[in-house]
Formats: sequence, structure tokens, C-alpha cells
Amino acid sequence: MDKSIEKIREEFISELNSASTSTQIEQLKIKFLGKKGPIVALMRSLKDCSKEERPKVGQLINSLKEEVATSCHKGFEDLLLREEKVKLESQKIDVTMPGKKSNKGRSHPIRQILNHILSIFKEMGFSIQYSPNIDSEHYNFESLNFEDDHPARDMQDTFYLSKEMLLRTHTSNIQARLMQKEKPPIRVVCPGKAFRNENISARSHVFFHQVEGFYIDENVTFADLISTLNSFFNKFFGQKIKMRFRSSYFPFVEPGLEADIECLVCSTKGCAICKNTGWLEVVGAGMIHPNVLKAGRVDPEKYTGYAWGLGVERLQMLLNNIPDIRMFTENDERFLSQF
Ligand code: PHE
Repeated sequence: MDKSIEKIREEFISELNSASTSTQIEQLKIKFLGKKGPIVALMRSLKDCSKEERPKVGQLINSLKEEVATSCHKGFEDLLLREEKVKLESQKIDVTMPGKKSNKGRSHPIRQILNHILSIFKEMGFSIQYSPNIDSEHYNFESLNFEDDHPARDMQDTFYLSKEMLLRTHTSNIQARLMQKEKPPIRVVCPGKAFRNENISARSHVFFHQVEGFYIDENVTFADLISTLNSFFNKFFGQKIKMRFRSSYFPFVEPGLEADIECLVCSTKGCAICKNTGWLEVVGAGMIHPNVLKAGRVDPEKYTGYAWGLGVERLQMLLNNIPDIRMFTENDERFLSQF
């Protein structure tokens, strides 16, 4: 009897030692302590022992039973802990690892360049004002000294919405309107879209953006206009920029001019970007015509002013070597994501 108890213990210990999962231990416990297990069998055979031996053997069986129970319990707990640890280990994350970059939204290249332009003019003391995209012939043409049958109206092919209303052909439609509302000194910039019925090509589109600017006060001079444009372009490109002024005609200014900046790609030597001229036209400007001041109810005897209108797409194209104005409206992610 003692021997078979000892054999069962040895068997149990060897199986316990080779168990490697908590499930195996559970099975081991059932195998040894279950109703059909060897320990219950031992209990049953107790009746075959002599009366004297019975208490001693009974004690041995009981202590084996206890040993199996506590060893299983302990082994089970240990393995469970180990398994939990392995599981946690596998789920570990390294918080110091660099994260994945998410695709951030960004503003359109025209919006970006507009913000740059406006921040410079703001710094120079100009405030920002807006005028409507849909406007009357009066503010787009008449108030700007375009006469009814003036050939200058043909300069800008207009989208008419009705006999009287149109899509503004330039941001100059702010001029008389704002003069009627505010008293000089007026020093504003007006960013916005302009619309013209033109053939769409690499260099022209049916709509584009302009930044109009004007300044009206006593004693505003042509020299003020030149120095304002000069310092704007220096700030815009972050370097000293050579400028060239050519006389030009717009009905709403006198004298009128067009300004070129040196071609930054070839430094006036001539290249494809500047079509071998060395210069790039960037802005139309001039001294506000007395008739425009009158239309805005500003006294031309007392006040003078200058105005300019610059093309926004043009500047963005120059700054980033963009060959085709259509790219701004095609919404091609490959183009947009470069800004
Ligand atoms: N409105 C003119 C254009 O669209 C530009 C301009 C503005 C010229 C102000 C002179 C003064 O071409």
C-alpha cells in the first residue's frame, strides 16, 4: 500500500513538472483527484487494509491528496501569471516610437499667396475691404471713367448677367463704392476674383485673382505710388527687386503705368520664363483719375490718390515656377500637395 501511494506521488510530480500551461494543470488535477482517479481508488482500497494499518495509510492518502491539491493550485497560479505576462509582453507598445504622419489639410496655393500679400500690405498700413463679384456696370465701368461707347470697354470681355449686372472684370469695382462710404484718408487693399470672357490657356483663364489697392489723401504723389510698389515687392520676395515702369493706359488713372520686376530666373539676361525680355509684368497702376474721385464724391481739388491692381496667380507662378495657370483650378492632389 505504501508503495503504491509513493508511486502515484512520483507519477504526479513528474507530470506536474512537465506541464507547461494552466490548462494542462487543470487536467492534471482532474486526472489525480477526480472520481475515476488513483487517489479515490486508494481510498476505496482502504477497506482492504488491516484495522491497525488503516489510520496510518489513511493519513498518507490524505496528505497525498492535499499535496496534489496545493501543488496543482500553486502550479496553476504560476502558469497563469506567466501566460498573462507573455500576453501583455506581446501587446506592449513603444511610446517613444515616432508616429505615423497623417495627411493634413492645407489652404490652396492661391489662398496661401494671398495671405502673404495681404500680411505685407497690412504691415504697411493698408486695411482690407471687399467688393462684390456680381456688380453693376456702374461700379465696374462707369464710375471708373469708362464712357458708354468707350473703346476701352472692349479691353475686358465681360460676362453680363443682365443688361445692368455683370461679373466684375476687375477688383477696381471697389474704388468709387468705398469712396462714397468713407472719407479720406483711405488706404485699403481689396483682394478677390475677377472674371473675363477669354480663351482658357496656359497663361489666361476666365477667372483669376487680383489685389486692388488704393490710397487717397491730401498730397498723395506719384513718387508715393512708386515707393509703395517698390517696398511691397522687396518684402514679397524677401530681397531687393529691380523694377521697371512703363507708361500705360487705363481709363481710371492718369498717368497710368504698368510695372515689371526683374526676372528672378535669369536676372534680366533673358530666358523662357520672361520670354527673353528679362522682365515680368506684375501690376497695373496709376494716379486716380479726377473723374473717378468725383464719382466717389471725393473733391479732386483737395485730394489725390494712387491705385494699383496686381494679378495673384501671376505672382504665385513666378514664385514657384508654375508653368500653367490652369493648374490652380484642376484640383490635382499631386499639384496641391506640394504647397
Ligand atoms: N484694374 C486693372 C486691371 O484689371 C488694374 C489697375 C488697377 C490699373 C488700378 C490701374 C489702377 O487690369
